[in-house]
Amino acid sequence: MAKSYNIAIIPGDGTGPEVVAEGLKVLNAASARFGFRLDLVHFDFGAERYLKTGEILPDSAINDFRKFDSMFLGAIGHPDVKPGVLEAGILLKIRFSLDQYINLRPVKLYPNVDTPLKDKGPEHIDFVVIRENTGGIYTGHGGATRVGTIDEIATQLMVYDRRTVDRCLKYAFELKKKRNAMNSKYSGKPITLIHKRNVLTQCGDLWYRAFEEMGEQQYPDLKRDYNHVDAANMWFVKNPEWFDVAVTENLFGDIITDLGAMIQGGLGVAAGGNINPEGVSMFEPMGGSAPKYAGRNVINPMAAIGAGMMMLDALGETAAAQAVETAMTSVMQKMKSQAAGNMGYSTTEVGDLVANFVATV
Ligand code: IPM
Ligand code: MN
Repeated sequence: MAKSYNIAIIPGDGTGPEVVAEGLKVLNAASARFGFRLDLVHFDFGAERYLKTGEILPDSAINDFRKFDSMFLGAIGHPDVKPGVLEAGILLKIRFSLDQYINLRPVKLYPNVDTPLKDKGPEHIDFVVIRENTGGIYTGHGGATRVGTIDEIATQLMVYDRRTVDRCLKYAFELKKKRNAMNSKYSGKPITLIHKRNVLTQCGDLWYRAFEEMGEQQYPDLKRDYNHVDAANMWFVKNPEWFDVAVTENLFGDIITDLGAMIQGGLGVAAGGNINPEGVSMFEPMGGSAPKYAGRNVINPMAAIGAGMMMLDALGETAAAQAVETAMTSVMQKMKSQAAGNMGYSTTEVGDLVANFVATV
């Protein structure tokens, strides 16, 4: 019998539903071509439901999500909803309650995609950032007192425990090992820990010692490197070719992966995964809900298609994932640019082109 996968779909707000539709078009083409089944269940969580009913994401939905093999998210955010409400209530709630402790962000420049970096091409920009996805400042430890007075105090703490650090590092080292075995262009490069241990002498020291110990004891053949996060920002721009697998804590990862998105050609192409290696993961395009482009059939669906490709890979459908990547590469070569409204094609046309390619590889 053909393998089948249950996938929870949250199209979300703004352009989310449009890019999700194209992502699904490509996933369906891959399932037909490679002989597996996708059972899709749509959920309407997002701004519209919240504005209508006041409900953001009930705990019962989290329990529903646990039964799926994977999840696929469009975008969350709406001009009529105060910033933070849906982000915390949907995206962060899913990440935390499903313990999606890895945020996997490939930063890969495909041929014919413009990067703002002068004299850099696909051979220079091909690395992965592993951002710890459940700890740090995002845990929300802290509080505020004397609010509204001149003496107001607010704290929000960077919280890490050894177990949270270790499981993230483990994932990073394993991925590095896998990439080294895949291609010699990766094996010459180190795995890089990014932190700020010259100032964050507690959390930075925890990460650094854990990194050194795990590397030395369990992965002695892997070359290790360390960058302060401010310096890493510089090197992402000046020497992106130095990086292969970079691992970092939550907030630093949030910041450097947006920089990563820009050097790989922008939010139109950047995809990511919120991964629980032992549980249910969720894949998403990195662009937001982009309300000004919504409903116009001009948004770039390539990031959502890339998120679908990552999902296939995580599900173990490696050949299908590779076919999708080949199709994406081919279609990107035909596009005028990766910017919304300037692709030379509409949203649905880009989806059609990729899906048709996948159907015939
Ligand atoms: C991201 C986003 C989220 C984050 C927001 C929307 C909560 O910026 O996925 O990078 O900060 O993690
Ligand atoms: Mn972010």
